Amino acid sequence: MKFHVMTLFPEMIEQGLHTSILGRAMDAGIISLSTVNIRDYSEDKHRHVDDYPYGGGAGMVMAAEPIAKCYEDICAGGPKKRLIYLTPWGRVFNQDMAKELAKEEELVFLCGHYEGVDERVLSRYVTDPVSIGDYVLSGGELPAMVMIDAIARMVPGVLTNEESGETESFENNLLEYPQYTRPEVWRGEAVPEVLLSGHHANVDRWRTERSIDRTLMYRPELLAGAVLDKKAKKYYNEALAAQKRADDEASKNEK
Ligand code: ADE
Repeated sequence: MKFHVMTLFPEMIEQGLHTSILGRAMDAGIISLSTVNIRDYSEDKHRHVDDYPYGGGAGMVMAAEPIAKCYEDICAGGPKKRLIYLTPWGRVFNQDMAKELAKEEELVFLCGHYEGVDERVLSRYVTDPVSIGDYVLSGGELPAMVMIDAIARMVPGVLTNEESGETESFENNLLEYPQYTRPEVWRGEAVPEVLLSGHHANVDRWRTERSIDRTLMYRPELLAGAVLDKKAKKYYNEALAAQKRADDEASKNEK
């Protein structure tokens, strides 16, 4: 799979993505990355890519033409590729989107800066406006890197079998269970005994229950989409009831 990134800071993208699992996948030729500097498409003698906003207001707006030229160059000689524009007003990115986008052979990312990008180039070419969360960043580079990491992990062959197992657990809408490594006792705190027992069924059960606890605590809205077996469902109902009793108790004490 090939990722193209249109940006004013290509070195930021290159440095961030050539490491760890993605670096390994690039070396193996499973994925590739091509960064293009939008400034190279400026026709201005000072290489400007932005201008004042019509209607007034603070900041600068990235002009349509350098971006259009850059994208047309990336698509030259082939079909139009899906174009993802990183913006706080886009659809919020999640694991399902990562999985779906990983089916594409090529993807193009547009990283904006300044106060925005001329709407005419966005409406002409952008297929997917995407946000990585409800906060405002200084540019689209970090969001593009976040998306490329999550998408690349879903491309067959990028993760080893062992690594893919880890992702599946989140795909069932449950958060990761707690992990422990040596030493067995750290500053007086021991590892949960069940993990030392060698009893795989009990370890699995313990991990599912801790995942349910954690999801209930931090992301309860995810649980509606989780597929739980009978025992897990029973545990979930009990944990939910216990949580409700604790909440009721707390609000009673407030009064
Ligand atoms: N650009 C600035 N903030 C962003 C966000 N939260 N997601 C995607 N792109 C952005």
